[in-house]
Amino acid sequence: MDFVAVKLGGSCITYKDKPFTINEGNLRTISRALSEAGRNYFIVHGGGSWGHTAAIMYGLSSFSYSRHAKGVAYTKLKMQELSSAVQKFLIDSGVHTFYFPAQALDERIRRELEEISASGVHPLTYGDVIYEVGRGFRIIGGDEIILKLSGFINIVRAVFIMATPGIMDENGEVIEQITLRESTGSTYIGDVPIIVGNYSVPFSDVLKKMDSSSPDATGGMAYKLYVSLQLARKGIPAIFVGAGDKENIIKALNGSNFTGSIVMPDVH
Ligand SMILES: Nc1ncnc2c1ncn2[C@@H]1O[C@H](COP(=O)(O)OP(=O)(O)OP(=O)(O)O)[C@@H](O)[C@H]1O
Ligand SMILES: [Mg+2]
Repeated sequence: MDFVAVKLGGSCITYKDKPFTINEGNLRTISRALSEAGRNYFIVHGGGSWGHTAAIMYGLSSFSYSRHAKGVAYTKLKMQELSSAVQKFLIDSGVHTFYFPAQALDERIRRELEEISASGVHPLTYGDVIYEVGRGFRIIGGDEIILKLSGFINIVRAVFIMATPGIMDENGEVIEQITLRESTGSTYIGDVPIIVGNYSVPFSDVLKKMDSSSPDATGGMAYKLYVSLQLARKGIPAIFVGAGDKENIIKALNGSNFTGSIVMPDVH
């Protein structure tokens, strides 16, 4: 069973600068695109101004462990509220979802996922608080979840739908293509160099810096790019498109002729 993994970015399904708000227009457009493209999806959505706001309020992040009981409960509750709204938009467009908690995602549910998908229902999860034995609670972002999924289901491509029309270079232009060896532009995320000309920095270095420079709880664009390069190493292309244009999202879901960015394995 092949899945198209789709990340509905919190940056486009909410207004990230306004706590606890939903971008209904974008959610409607994305839901219709998913419905019309008609693929087998694993749908992941981000936290946007729900998850990140709650997490930051209580000092939760992807980069450290916490035992803040109220923060954990509150963040999980806010994500549950956001996800109810997101799933309502999807179901209204005929994209029927089946929720799995991020805590439960591992190879033991592979068969369930495949059979559920074969029956026309789309597995869905979202960035959330998880617990790790002996360590504590931490946030797992939607982007990290996609990487985790790629370890036990067959992902043909990952499509990241975001607020920006793609991965932008230092001049604000969309970088159309990034391969493991070269890209068509250079990008810094804050002061973290990710791609400089044809040179992509070792991601262990990026990760070290990301903790301190991250604008949100899960590493923002830098972590997204890290995930996409890890996916490329596994042979999975990652596509980045904006949320506003339904036809373009459909093209991205189908994997061709879209306007946006693609991070892919080297072309041989
Ligand atoms: N080079 C870049 N290209 C594109 N976006 C960038 C870049 N540098 C920084 N950004 C910012 O990163 C944001 C995307 O990351 P962010 O984590 O906010 O989105 P998301 O993953 O969709 O949201 P969430 O984490 O809530 O799911 C963009 O909206 C933009 O503001
Ligand atoms: Mg993010």
